[in-house]
Formats: sequence, structure tokens, C-alpha cells
Amino acid sequence: MPSTHPDPGIQAFAQRLRNEFAVEASGHDWWHVWRVWRLARRIAEVEGGDLYVVELAALGHDVEDHKLGRPPGTLATWLEEAGVDGASAARVVEIAQRVSFKGAGVADEMPTLEGQIVQDADRLDALGAIGIARTFAYGGAKGRLLYDPSESPQLHGSFEEYKNAGSSSLMHFYEKLFLLKDRLHTPAARAIARERHAFMEQFVERFLAEWSGGD
Ligand code: NI
Repeated sequence: MPSTHPDPGIQAFAQRLRNEFAVEASGHDWWHVWRVWRLARRIAEVEGGDLYVVELAALGHDVEDHKLGRPPGTLATWLEEAGVDGASAARVVEIAQRVSFKGAGVADEMPTLEGQIVQDADRLDALGAIGIARTFAYGGAKGRLLYDPSESPQLHGSFEEYKNAGSSSLMHFYEKLFLLKDRLHTPAARAIARERHAFMEQFVERFLAEWSGGD
């Protein structure tokens, strides 16, 4: 994180996030937020959009994530306390409410360019080497197996089903991560996703070869 950001609202909000997300074992820690923030700026450089809203929404996108258990209204309060104006805060809250993946068969609804950029940035951070590391960290935090050969991937048709699924970490590649490259909104993000996706495919292929002793 740059030690200071020229905008005092973004600076204050980033500092708040850094403190609140310091201890987080599920892969949604401050450094996830920081990477999404950087990726969102990188995509916005190419795609445009209101950078102020993009940066705040990237920083705040996980504050009320269902996996983390903070009450509704938390994000709006933190934005207000960082001095962000009400109109921008409302746009950030709206993006954050729409951002998370809710299952293979559940459509995304993200009407604004700023929201699309943030959703793409969040999804890119679920791909590649970082995505692999986060998948197993999250599985560990949930007490899940690395892999269970008796399972087959489930493509969840509802958010409830997806949220309550207890499958092994390896199934997560089939149930979410391999699908993400086709669910990105912006060309800039799709370009970054290509290599990350290919790397995950190689990883899973190698994992299964070693698992069966066929390597
Ligand atoms: Ni996230």
C-alpha cells in the first residue's frame, strides 16, 4: 500500500480496512483487499470509469461478505467515518452488495462499469498462483479435505446450495475457479485472466497425476 494516497477519504478508508482485516485466516485478509485495489486501478487505467468509486469499492468489496459475518450497514458506517460523501458511498455500497460469486448457475447483475471493474479485479485474485493458495487456505480454515476422489463437481443452481456446499478444496476449481474466465466483464481483465487460468489447469492436472501415482 502506498504510505499516503492523495485523496484523504481513500487514505482513511484504506487505513481502516488495513486495521479491520489484519487478522483473517480465510484468504480475505488485508492483502487480498490490497491486491484487488491494485488490480482494479490497473483495469480502470484501460477501461475508464470513475476512479474514486472504483478505488473505494475495491477496498470495501468484502466488508459485508457473507463469509465474514459483519452486519449490514457496516460498510456505509466505515465510509462515512472516512469522510466519503453520501452519493459516492451509496454507489460503493451498491457495488459491494452485488460483487460476490453466488454459484455456477446464478447470473451476475452488475450494471455499472465501476462495479464490473471491481468484480473483475476480485475474480482475478481468485485465479492463478494466488487463487490456488487462497483456495487451500480457505479450505483449511473450513476444515475441508484437499481432495476426496469419491466426489464429483456440483454446478450449484442457487446461492443457498453454493454457500452450504461442503466439498473438498479441489472441487472448488471445477465449481467456481475454472468458470471465472468466462464471467469477466472487461477485455482488460480477460487478458490478465488467460495465463492465470492456464496455470490453474496445469496445477490441477499435476495434482491429480501425483494423487494417483501416475506422474
Ligand atoms: Ni474479495
